[in-house]
Amino acid sequence: MRKSSRKKILIINGPNLNLLGRRQPEIYGREKLSDLKTILQKEAERTNLDIVFFQSNHEGAIVDRINSAVDRFALIIINPAAYTHTSVAIRDALLAVNIPAIEVHLSNIHRREDFRKKSLISDICIGVISGFGLQGYILALYAARKILNGK
Ligand code: DQA
Repeated sequence: MRKSSRKKILIINGPNLNLLGRRQPEIYGREKLSDLKTILQKEAERTNLDIVFFQSNHEGAIVDRINSAVDRFALIIINPAAYTHTSVAIRDALLAVNIPAIEVHLSNIHRREDFRKKSLISDICIGVISGFGLQGYILALYAARKILNGK
């Protein structure tokens, strides 16, 4: 398939996920964000999807990235990290661009502190994958492919 005709998926990671590998490895694992990129890039190539990565520690930057995805991306995979539990702005941005989204968390947010159990985006996402570490993103990519290609 020509690269230009592939469906594009935006993968957004929120604050402190740049520190994957050294940040609380007992919770988030020992692999780095760059490892995740490599794994997903291979997987995307194999399944004829085009993926773009974005990580930011700043809420406004994430909102801007979602805004600029309009008409460019077919789907968003997002781990808003701590903003999951606080950001009305990220929720509103996802609603504004009307791009289908899949929510991913490395840890199982329902097995942790009470404040992590509430996500402000789960109800507007197609689905949520939480608790499978990096594998969660691969599962999200499989789901995305199925949604976009009807397979
Ligand atoms: C997280 C869970 C959040 O509660 C936390 O603030 C994160 C990462 C996860 O992937 O498990 O930064 O989104």
